[in-house]
Amino acid sequence: MRRLLLLASAALVAAENGLDGWLRYAPLPGASRYLHDLPSSIVSLNASETSPVYVAGSELQKGLQGIFGKQVSISHQNCNASSSIVVGTVDEYSKLCGSSAALPELEQDGFWLSTKGNSVQILGRNERGALYGAFEYLSMLAQGNFSQVAYANNPRAPIRWVNQWDNLDGSIERGYGGASIFFENGGVVSNLTRAAQYARLLASIGLNAVVVNNVNANASILTPQNIEGLGRIADVFRPYGVQLALSLNFASPTIIGGLSTYDPLDPSVIAWWTNVTDQLYQRIPDFAGYLVKADSEGQPGPLTYNRTLAQGANLFAKPLQPYGGIVMFRAFVYNQLNESDWKADRAKAAVEFFQGLDGQFDDNVVVQIKYGPIDFQVREPTSPLFAHLRNTSTAIELEITQEYLGQQCHLVYLPPLWKTVLDFDLRVDQKPSLVRDIITGQRFNRTLGGSAGVVNVGTNTTWLGSHLAMSNLYAYGRLAWDPANDPQSVLQDWIRLTFGLDRSVIDTITQMSMESWPAYENYSGNLGIQTLTDILYTHFGPNPASQDNNGWGQWTRADHTSIGMDRTVWNGTGYTGQYPPEVAAMYENIDTTPDNLVLWFHHVNYTHRLHSGKTVIQHFYDAHYSGAETAQTFLTMWESLKGKIDDERYNDVHFRLTYQAGHSIVWRDAINNFYFNLSGIPDEAKRVGNHPWRVEAESMTLSGYKTYAVNPFETASNTTAIVTTTNSTVGTATTKLEYPSGTYDLAVNYYDMYGGKSHWQVYLNNRKIGEWVGNSEDTLGHTPSIYLDGHSATRITFRGVKIEKGDELKIVGTPDGVEPAPLDYVSVLPEGVVD
Ligand SMILES: *[C@@H]1O[C@H](CO)[C@@H](O)[C@H](O)[C@H]1NC(C)=O
Ligand SMILES: *[C@@H]1O[C@H](CO)[C@@H](O)[C@H](O)[C@H]1NC(C)=O
Ligand SMILES: *[C@@H]1O[C@H](CO)[C@@H](O)[C@H](O)[C@H]1NC(C)=O
Ligand SMILES: *[C@@H]1O[C@H](CO)[C@@H](O)[C@H](O)[C@H]1NC(C)=O
Ligand SMILES: *[C@@H]1O[C@H](CO)[C@@H](O)[C@H](O)[C@H]1NC(C)=O
Ligand SMILES: *[C@@H]1O[C@H](CO)[C@@H](O)[C@H](O)[C@H]1NC(C)=O
Ligand SMILES: *[C@@H]1O[C@H](CO)[C@@H](O)[C@H](O)[C@H]1NC(C)=O
Ligand SMILES: *[C@@H]1O[C@H](CO)[C@@H](O)[C@H](O)[C@H]1NC(C)=O
Ligand SMILES: *[C@@H]1O[C@H](CO)[C@@H](O)[C@H](O)[C@H]1NC(C)=O
Ligand SMILES: *[C@@H]1O[C@H](CO)[C@@H](O)[C@H](O)[C@H]1NC(C)=O
Ligand SMILES: *[C@@H]1O[C@H](CO)[C@@H](O)[C@H](O)[C@H]1NC(C)=O
Ligand SMILES: *[C@@H]1O[C@H](CO)[C@@H](O)[C@H](O)[C@H]1NC(C)=O
Repeated sequence: MRRLLLLASAALVAAENGLDGWLRYAPLPGASRYLHDLPSSIVSLNASETSPVYVAGSELQKGLQGIFGKQVSISHQNCNASSSIVVGTVDEYSKLCGSSAALPELEQDGFWLSTKGNSVQILGRNERGALYGAFEYLSMLAQGNFSQVAYANNPRAPIRWVNQWDNLDGSIERGYGGASIFFENGGVVSNLTRAAQYARLLASIGLNAVVVNNVNANASILTPQNIEGLGRIADVFRPYGVQLALSLNFASPTIIGGLSTYDPLDPSVIAWWTNVTDQLYQRIPDFAGYLVKADSEGQPGPLTYNRTLAQGANLFAKPLQPYGGIVMFRAFVYNQLNESDWKADRAKAAVEFFQGLDGQFDDNVVVQIKYGPIDFQVREPTSPLFAHLRNTSTAIELEITQEYLGQQCHLVYLPPLWKTVLDFDLRVDQKPSLVRDIITGQRFNRTLGGSAGVVNVGTNTTWLGSHLAMSNLYAYGRLAWDPANDPQSVLQDWIRLTFGLDRSVIDTITQMSMESWPAYENYSGNLGIQTLTDILYTHFGPNPASQDNNGWGQWTRADHTSIGMDRTVWNGTGYTGQYPPEVAAMYENIDTTPDNLVLWFHHVNYTHRLHSGKTVIQHFYDAHYSGAETAQTFLTMWESLKGKIDDERYNDVHFRLTYQAGHSIVWRDAINNFYFNLSGIPDEAKRVGNHPWRVEAESMTLSGYKTYAVNPFETASNTTAIVTTTNSTVGTATTKLEYPSGTYDLAVNYYDMYGGKSHWQVYLNNRKIGEWVGNSEDTLGHTPSIYLDGHSATRITFRGVKIEKGDELKIVGTPDGVEPAPLDYVSVLPEGVVD
């Protein structure tokens, strides 16, 4: 027993930077108990180092060493040795080791796993299937699962892709985990160690291709020099069974090809793309194919030449076809619209652009459809396009990087959101038509189909910028493999692999994660109104007004009395009519529309009563308070795990959860202030606009500080903040605290902009109780804003401060760069009060 405890605590001291993700192979408590049951050799049935089968052997060896401290040798024949793990393809196994007749039929990428005592068989239909089987076996061992099993596991869909929105200059669009691991200075990086490590993580969850460059594609990705660089990436991916794919710029023939047209029917254009494709396959024989964003958000496309999207997609499908490559053609096509037209609706665009084209796409084209009809919002109804393409293969596009959902600075476990779409029944022809059965090809009998996930990892050792965000990547792979998987059980596999087997660790992280998306929805945008983030700037903090009065079509149509998009057929945009009749009827009628999408489908008064019995406006107020309150508990839940998680990860996550707790209050107050101001309807619970424990900075005695009207107004308490009078003046704000003597948490709300690192000091009766620097651009690894707004607004809390009635509070702010040491308010919080 003592030995076990030592082992367990040894595992905790090791600092962990996240690089290995869930593939840590951490020592298993009590491992010695199992040592004699483990296989004592590994037979990997391919001796070529670039083979996934070879890699499977090395992973198994590394895993047994890490998890059990057991050294096991690898050979490449001798497959009949007893007490061994044999890993290879079914074909190679039957050739070298005798019959495999007893095995069930496997599909591409599928595997057979059998563990009988210390004799383990891992057989793939192809080489990467064998590697997937090895990772599954290692995942069992790392979780302390020693069940005897014998089963076949096949992916439900062939397309299990990652999209990376990496630019050639090394930046990543919507990336929050550092610079690109693939590109810098216009070309491919020379050191591809991280690219190989990425492929390893992806292979371990069954993902099989990566589109390495941004969908807003730079044509120069296709220069001969870059094709050579891409070939190097493909070379490091290949041993992991991961294929490389590319985003294309539709106008490339004119941008880098010297042609005067990119018309998809022009023979010179066709010849140009055929040559490019041949060049790519010459260097990358297992090249997976192209991803195309055309006629979308300013990108060029076939519509320029009055050609259809199908003609545009087939332009690429034809040269890829002989090589077995595919085209992922994005359905994210829409035009700018005019809000004064009540019937205009961006949500209708995809069906309108694609519906006449079903059946016109070549067989190796897959239409890649975002889960909802707008753009990765916190809740959207299922894209109706999934019901329209019966003779065209489709894939669902999910977003792992949290563009609209907190950008990895907020914990949001996404699979419960994805499941609202994957499990949605579109009732095509009055028959069960779950989205997950449509994308796997089952419902409409398609051979292609699957998932594309926008991941955007970067050079940070945590990959996504946050340790906890990695659960989303892990779960994405598991759901791409089988979209019927359960989000919570997948999550718990990830927790065990990432943080170990301690019951309280598993329970706590499970609870935080499962509550995180509902909480985020509550304190950002609820009832189907969309995320209510700033859509014109960073997509991060609150700015509900940014949704309206522009051509982007993410409108809320909020005015003084009413809110929501009327998407009914009888009186609105007609969007509900894009669904099959049973679903259309449900959404057409407000009585059968679920509350959580009511404002997506209907325009109603703030006083409209929901099924819950609350009015819309009171639901807004209550949900925002409740969501922010839940976010506070993530921090205290995490603190209960101190000592059970290594300090490096504990502290990093603690920092982020502290940030989230503060920023959730920024969200809560901004949204509530905004709609209170617009509707004039008070909060029944009298919380909105009423903050008895707050001292506004603008009401303090100021020296070297001046007041500043924040824009948007709702992102400052009482609409006003203070900033130093110049960028070199030290400011002082003083006040007497008139609260009863006692112990309080002292929260200071301020703005942390990039382009400066101001310094603040807090004094109580001239005794310094704390100080901090506005350096979230470094600590969060995220640069939200150069303004005072809902992105830069944040909070720091000093806990357990003893305050006597009449004490003088003084804050000294030293500006830096463009950041004028901004302050919004101070909250003096008695125990249990969140404000
Ligand atoms: C061994 O691996 C290499 C590289 O993946 C592959 O080309 C070869 O076909 C494999 N050999 C067998 C017998 O599977
Ligand atoms: C393993 O055993 C099978 C049947 O028992 C036999 O056919 C095969 O030749 C053996 N392979 C090796 C490498 O010994
Ligand atoms: C152990 O792993 C097998 C195979 O993946 C799985 O079916 C089983 O549910 C696992 N058992 C436990 C207790 O997790
Ligand atoms: C390549 O990068 C890795 C880290 O990702 C580093 O450990 C290694 O030293 C680098 N190799 C070279 C040759 O610079
Ligand atoms: C094909 O592309 C290669 C590389 O860009 C170029 O060198 C060659 O001239 C092209 N061939 C044709 C026929 O356009
Ligand atoms: C575009 O194509 C449609 C149908 O093929 C045709 O009716 C229309 O006249 C064309 N428009 C232009 C500007 O060429
Ligand atoms: C499904 O498609 C295949 C061809 O890909 C065809 O042979 C088969 O009959 C189809 N099945 C059904 C149920 O339509
Ligand atoms: C990773 O990001 C964090 C901020 O989130 C930063 O403190 C750290 O230095 C970064 N590490 C690397 C290796 O980029
Ligand atoms: C019907 O549409 C009009 C705009 O055309 C709108 O003003 C009105 O509020 C809608 N009526 C209902 C009951 O939603
Ligand atoms: C919505 O509010 C307006 C203005 O107060 C009122 O005229 C209208 O009757 C209300 N509509 C409903 C359906 O309650
Ligand atoms: C709110 O701000 C105004 C000026 O912007 C100021 O006069 C008023 O005192 C402030 N209210 C509080 C409660 O500090
Ligand atoms: C301070 O402001 C002055 C005048 O606007 C400007 O020239 C100077 O660059 C600023 N200093 C910093 C450090 O931003």
